[in-house]
Amino acid sequence: MSAKRISTREYKQVAERMKKIQEEQKLIVQRMRKIKYKIAILSNKGGVGKSFVTVSLAGALAVSGRKVGILDGDIHGPTIHKMLGLPTGFGMLARPDGTIFPVEVPPGIKLASLGLLLPEDETPIIWRGSLKTTALRELLAYTDWGELDYLLIDLPPGTGDEQLTIAQLIPDLTGFILVTIPSDVSKVIVKKAIAFANRLNKRIIGIIENMAYFKCPDGSIQYIFGKGAAEDLAKEYGIPFLGQIPIDPRIREANDRGKLFFLEYPESEAAKAFLKAAEKIIEIVEGKKEGSDEAEASG
Ligand SMILES: Nc1ncnc2c1ncn2[C@@H]1O[C@H](COP(=O)(O)OP(=O)(O)OP(=O)(O)O)[C@@H](O)[C@H]1O
Ligand SMILES: [Mg+2]
Repeated sequence: MSAKRISTREYKQVAERMKKIQEEQKLIVQRMRKIKYKIAILSNKGGVGKSFVTVSLAGALAVSGRKVGILDGDIHGPTIHKMLGLPTGFGMLARPDGTIFPVEVPPGIKLASLGLLLPEDETPIIWRGSLKTTALRELLAYTDWGELDYLLIDLPPGTGDEQLTIAQLIPDLTGFILVTIPSDVSKVIVKKAIAFANRLNKRIIGIIENMAYFKCPDGSIQYIFGKGAAEDLAKEYGIPFLGQIPIDPRIREANDRGKLFFLEYPESEAAKAFLKAAEKIIEIVEGKKEGSDEAEASG
């Protein structure tokens, strides 16, 4: 192996970079201390509704009285801001010292996303691994969320750079929520997610099955992507099952309009399913049932 001698200037540059990384890591630890639960949303493939599930769970947790933030960790294709009705390039307030402030939308969801900082939708982000890590680290280090109960982190599909980076940058990550669709549910996929979480020493808080079925106007039920075995698999592997979200054309339409489906159609099965899922999450991570003060009284 041949070693290359580096100049003093190069050495200084590397040292400065290392110092900056260490300072950012310290800032992340300080900021994350103010957030009780940090949950990343995981899926094995694209387009299964992770981002929709993220905004809906955030809405349901906010309606349940929790202070909620979303970090859009999909650096290449941030979409959360649009689902929340904020145009690309909307901006985020910043202080001269570099601190940035998330944008708050009803019903009390704070959002930090690169999508708010890009000049326009067509701007492609062609960052490779290390730059994506830098972007995520900077977003986590410089965003001032204040005190939060929940920070949900939307991620691109798979178990790659972003997922690893988040798990490394947030050592006390509460865990992952796995989003699947019925056709996608297989033992292999669940096993893969469990192995990934185990390797990182993180827990899987639960599985949510999106696009589970379609209710026809005559009341009959169609299992468009097949009848999912997510619940059975969750049981088999001892992972909490958080519920099924039906296919509803109003979901796509509301997301495209930038309206929170959860607030627009509170009577829909999907909105109710999200409220239940949020209740389960609260029970799992906070260790208490919604509406009961048991845990607070004893703890
Ligand atoms: N249950 C549903 N019923 C109808 N449409 C849905 C449902 N869930 C999601 N969609 C729509 O499916 C599309 C994909 O959803 P979304 O962007 O949330 O997926 P994703 O997993 O985040 O995708 P990506 O992997 O690209 O980040 C969107 O147009 C969304 O509005
Ligand atoms: Mg997405």
